Order: sequence, then C-alpha cells, then structure tokens
Amino acid sequence: MVPLLLLPLLWGGSLQEQAGYELGVQQLVNVQEGLCIHVPCSFSYPWFPWYSSGELYTHWYRVGDNTRYVHPVATNNPQKAVKLDTKGRFLLADPRTNNCSLNIRETRKSDTGTYVFRVERGRNVQYTYQDKKLTLWVTELTQKPDILIQEPLKSGHPTELTCSLPGSCQGGISPSFAWVGAGIDSLDHQNLHSSVLTFTPRPQDHGMNLTCQVKLQGSRVTTERTIWLNVFYAPQSLTIGMSFRNVTALKIVRDTLIPILEGESLHLLCVSDSNPPAQLSWFRGSPALNTIPISTTGILELPQIRAGEEGKFTCQAQHLLGSQNISLSLSVVYPPWLLGPSCSWEDECLHCSCSSQAQPAPLLRWRLGDVLLEGQPSNASYKVTCSSAGPWTNSSLSLSAGLSTHFRLNCEAENVHGTQRASVLLPPRYRPREQQGSWPLVLTLIRGALMGVGFLLTYGLTWLYYTRCGGPQRIKPTPD
Ligand SMILES: *[C@@H]1O[C@H](CO)[C@@H](O)[C@H](O)[C@H]1NC(C)=O
Ligand SMILES: *[C@@H]1O[C@H](CO)[C@@H](O)[C@H](O)[C@H]1NC(C)=O
Ligand SMILES: *[C@@H]1O[C@H](CO)[C@@H](O)[C@H](O)[C@H]1NC(C)=O
Ligand SMILES: *[C@@H]1O[C@H](CO)[C@@H](O)[C@H](O)[C@H]1NC(C)=O
Ligand SMILES: *[C@@H]1O[C@H](CO)[C@@H](O)[C@H](O)[C@H]1NC(C)=O
Ligand SMILES: *[C@@H]1O[C@H](CO)[C@@H](O)[C@H](O)[C@H]1NC(C)=O
Repeated sequence: MVPLLLLPLLWGGSLQEQAGYELGVQQLVNVQEGLCIHVPCSFSYPWFPWYSSGELYTHWYRVGDNTRYVHPVATNNPQKAVKLDTKGRFLLADPRTNNCSLNIRETRKSDTGTYVFRVERGRNVQYTYQDKKLTLWVTELTQKPDILIQEPLKSGHPTELTCSLPGSCQGGISPSFAWVGAGIDSLDHQNLHSSVLTFTPRPQDHGMNLTCQVKLQGSRVTTERTIWLNVFYAPQSLTIGMSFRNVTALKIVRDTLIPILEGESLHLLCVSDSNPPAQLSWFRGSPALNTIPISTTGILELPQIRAGEEGKFTCQAQHLLGSQNISLSLSVVYPPWLLGPSCSWEDECLHCSCSSQAQPAPLLRWRLGDVLLEGQPSNASYKVTCSSAGPWTNSSLSLSAGLSTHFRLNCEAENVHGTQRASVLLPPRYRPREQQGSWPLVLTLIRGALMGVGFLLTYGLTWLYYTRCGGPQRIKPTPD
C-alpha cells in the first residue's frame, strides 16, 4: 500500500485535496467590525494507528504565509506562538472531534483576508488544505444595539430596560455599555452581554430620548440606539382657561368665583396634561355617578349668560391612571331693575315703597326733590326702612309732614354695574298739615280726568283738520 503521504507528489499541483483529506467550511464569511463570528468547520485526514502516532495539532494560517516560518493565526499547539494581532481572538475548537471551527472575537478590519487550515499529526500527517479556503470580510459596523422595554411605561412604576448588541461576543472582553438620557435617575447593572437599566419614569421623562451606547474593541468602535420614551401618566395640573370680551385669562385656580355681567358670553377651556390625553368633560355642579356632562370636550361655551345660570361648573379629566377635576363658580352680575315707587295714603301719611333687584344687591335711596331722605331724621317728618334678601333690596318710606314744597319723589337703586331711577309726581295739593284726609287725592283724580278730556278734544280736532281740509299744502319745487 502506498503511504498516503506520497500522494501529493503524484497529484502535483492539483487543487483536489489528497485522498482522505477533506475539509468542510464556508468559503466566504462576512462580519461587522467589532462583532464575533463562529465559522463552523469539520475536517478529516487519513489516520492509521500503526504509523500516525503523536499529538494532533490543527492551525489556521493566512494564505501565503509560509507555514514553516510564519506564525499561524490560531493553533491548538501550546508550544507554538500565534500572530500577535490575532492572539486570543481566533479560537480553535477541539480537533479530536474533527472540529476545525473558528471563533473570531472582536473582529478588526485588518482581519479581512483568506485563511487556510492545516493539520499535523506525527511525521506522516502534515497537511494544508489548499482546496477550500476561508475568506473573511470585516465590514463597517452598522449593527445597532437592541433595547428591550416593557411597554407601556407608567409614571411611578419602576421598570427595567435591557440593552444588548446582537452578534457581540460570548466570552472574552465584553462590550461596555452606557446609558445616556436627560432626566433619567439611573441605576444600572451590567451583565456580560447586556446592560439592565432600572428606572422609575416620571411625567417629565415623557418624550425624552434615551440612548444605549455600546463600545467595542476597547472603545475603538461604538454603536448606539436611541429610543423615545413614551411615559403614561395621569392628568396633572388641570387648568381652566377663560376668555370673554376678547380677553383671555389662563390658569384659573381651583374654586375661583368669577363674576360675569349678564348677557356676556363666556368661553371656557379645560386643559389637562396627561399621556395619553384624558377624556375631558364639563358638568354643572359636581359630577356624581351617572351625571350627564354638559360638554364632552374640554370646551364649554356659555353664550349670553343670564341671571339664574350662575353656579358651579366642573371640568373632569378621566384617565386610566387616575382622574382629576377642577371647578369654578360663576356669579352673574347685573345692574339694578327697579319696581316702583308706588305710593298710597294711610292715616295722613304718604307711604311709598320701592323694590330693586340686582347682583350684587343694590342700595336704595329716596329723594324728595333734591333732598336725600335717609335713615331716621331727628325731626321725624319721614321714616325710611330698608330690607335686603338675596338680590333684592326693598325700601319703604313714610312721609308725614313738612316737606311740601317738593313734589317729585325719586327712588334710586345703585350697584357697581349701574344706577336706575324712577320717580312719582306727588299730588300737587299735598299738604301734610291740612287735615283733609284723602281729599287731595280726589282732586288730583278729577284734574287728571279733565286733562284726559282736554287731550281727547285736541286730538279729535286735529284729526278733523287733517282729514277734511287736507292739512297744510306742501310747497312743490318749481322747475326752472
Ligand atoms: C465544534 O466546536 C465548536 C466550539 O467548540 C462547537 O460550538 C461546535 O458545536 C462543534 N461542532 C461539532 C460539529 O461538534
Ligand atoms: C430626540 O431625538 C430626536 C432625533 O434624534 C431629536 O430630533 C429630538 O429633538 C430629541 N428630543 C429630545 C427631547 O432631546
Ligand atoms: C373681539 O374680537 C373680534 C375679532 O377678533 C373683533 O371683531 C371684536 O370687535 C372684538 N370685540 C371687542 C369687544 O373687542
Ligand atoms: C374631584 O377632586 C377632589 C379633590 O381634588 C376629589 O376629592 C373628588 O373626589 C373629585 N371628584 C370627582 C367626581 O372625581
Ligand atoms: C326736618 O329735617 C329735615 C332735614 O333732616 C329738614 O330738611 C326739614 O326742614 C325738617 N323739618 C322740620 C319740620 O323741621
Ligand atoms: C322685595 O320685593 C320683591 C318684589 O315685590 C319680593 O319678591 C321680595 O321677596 C322682597 N324681598 C324682601 C326682602 O322683602
């Protein structure tokens, strides 16, 4: 039998492996710089126990390197040195299982090239597999880290974020991780191949960017991924914006009392800060269970407010993480309305009353001519009493004596929004000292009747004049 060792001589430079020598390996492998790659490989060689004694050594060489003088890139022979730039990075599998797999860690651009496998055992097996070669391409690092996040992030709930780089090495120098982000109170711990960040999101972290940076090859190569934090949080700082008379006032604090002039329109806007947006609605009074809202948006329009529409209005912000409400009270203000005055005689006294409604409640005053009648005068010629309840102020006046020269009695109601006056003409024969009971009133009535007859007569004559005589002739413009 021809020793297998002689076969190369017989086959010359053929690219066919020698009989018994076979290699199964991928011929082209791409890897991104800094990442790891496992290249599976298996080999066989002719082995006869009687002449192939000795240790089994396997090596990978760069193509073109002389296997006798140049160091391999990887070897399992502890006596043999390897190239410095691949030392500790190109790792071989156990050859006794016919395994020539190559594990390459923290790949560098300079690793790009073609490699050959060589087996050695005793003096008879000394073989470099020239048929199948491994070509390694180390390309730019484009792989970004993955950030694992448990969604949704809820404000106040601690959560864990995990950052890892697919393709980074198992064993060896692990990549270094760093978290960068505004407003993150971080607490992170790093495993060999991932980094876990524990943090409790706050509302202000919503919309922030969080970056995981991974540094490989001792910071020579860096890659990072940025995520946008979507933090769910319950409504906070609920505010009401109000605009009327084109004036916009924002930020009404809780339970403010707003006076509004009757007839004016009010536009209320409820604003809540939450994520996702809260369901806003407006209620009259306080919202109870099953209360129907008067608006199902944040906007409440109150056109032409009238008296009686005052009261409490509440805006409610409903959210799956909690609800909030804010109220304001509306008071409708208006200038006085006047009822009266009306007067009547009683026991030689003239009794007059006057009522007024206004918000805020009005002040009522009496005037006889220019003289202001107030309270209880010392000479007791008149008496004024006033009572007030809610928006009403009612006042009565009793006139008994002496103020006979003035005939016009005024009742005047006033509040900050306006003044109303009404007057009565007192009977001209009003003589408080004359003991004539209701005579002056009878005389007034007669006088009134006479005046009425006089008026009717005048009107009738005028009508006759216009209908019968055609009235005054108009002067017609004459043409030139
Ligand atoms: C070869 O060795 C590598 C690393 O030691 C291992 O992952 C792989 O499974 C082995 N292959 C076979 C076919 O045993
Ligand atoms: C987050 O990152 C994006 C894009 O990188 C940028 O446009 C944005 O301004 C960043 N946001 C913050 C709050 O820094
Ligand atoms: C309110 O604004 C509108 C349009 O902006 C304008 O036409 C109107 O005159 C303004 N009214 C008052 C009272 O300023
Ligand atoms: C409104 O808010 C107050 C305190 O902010 C709370 O006590 C009340 O229960 C809330 N009402 C509703 C209907 O949510
Ligand atoms: C009573 O007092 C008022 C002023 O308080 C005065 O105008 C009036 O003349 C007085 N009448 C008499 C009869 O003294
Ligand atoms: C005042 O007068 C009005 C109208 O007559 C009446 O409704 C109201 O109850 C009165 N108020 C008081 C305090 O007397």
